[in-house]
Amino acid sequence: MQIDQTHIDAFEKSLNPVKPETSRLPFKILGYGEISSIFTMEKYPDIVFKRLPFFPGMQSALSYRDQCVAYTTHLKNAGLNLPEEDGFITHSPGRPHVLYLAQPLFNADTFCHQLIHTLDPDQITQMIDTVLDAVNKVRLYNEKFMPKLQIAVDAQLSNWTWPVENNTRKLYLIDTSTPFYRIQGKEQLDVTLAVFPPGPAVTIGCLGKYHRNPGHHHGINPPYPHGPL
Ligand SMILES: Nc1ncnc2c1ncn2[C@@H]1O[C@H](COP(=O)(O)OP(=O)(O)O)[C@@H](O)[C@H]1O
Ligand SMILES: [Mg+2]
Repeated sequence: MQIDQTHIDAFEKSLNPVKPETSRLPFKILGYGEISSIFTMEKYPDIVFKRLPFFPGMQSALSYRDQCVAYTTHLKNAGLNLPEEDGFITHSPGRPHVLYLAQPLFNADTFCHQLIHTLDPDQITQMIDTVLDAVNKVRLYNEKFMPKLQIAVDAQLSNWTWPVENNTRKLYLIDTSTPFYRIQGKEQLDVTLAVFPPGPAVTIGCLGKYHRNPGHHHGINPPYPHGPL
């Protein structure tokens, strides 16, 4: 992916997280996840950006990005298909450091939570089997490396896309921005980052719960104390 760091810097600078519609550089929101907002920029219409705006400094943003790379490397080694991914860190005065994760844009219709409404029953069974097969690959990988290493995936359908490529469907895990893995039993994800002060106590509580059960989705949608982005 050809992405210009200077454009990311300019984009972050132009962004008004509280009133995103007033931002100078145009973008299109695709959705809000648990911890990131997801959008395309006018300059890169085929690339999805996930903005994670909660790092108190450069060092924590860098180490989080490294953890994402380590996590995705383990997932690939376990046999999962992941989209190409790149991470850009930027910072505007008076705001936390921000990590932008970039991925190729998949058609919204190819996400499993959409396909479950459009495919015929046999295809749905095949899709669910394919997702479960991927989850099982993670289980087998853990069996091989535990207790030294343990990885987890959030396997909800909205985290998978199943596009047709070369006349056959291929399953990708696209939610890689929360690096769920343990080394020697120690969680690598610093959950307190996601509630950059002054995050509400309720959010900390919810994320703590999420954190203690890696891979288990609680369906939480934390409030966004710094605005919708
Ligand atoms: N690469 C992508 N292409 C198109 N849409 C995407 C892509 N990545 C995420 N999305 C959309 O955004 C939603 C949330 O993305 P996800 O990575 O799961 O974010 P979160 O970690 O915040 O849950 C997905 O279910 C999908 O609808
Ligand atoms: Mg997700």
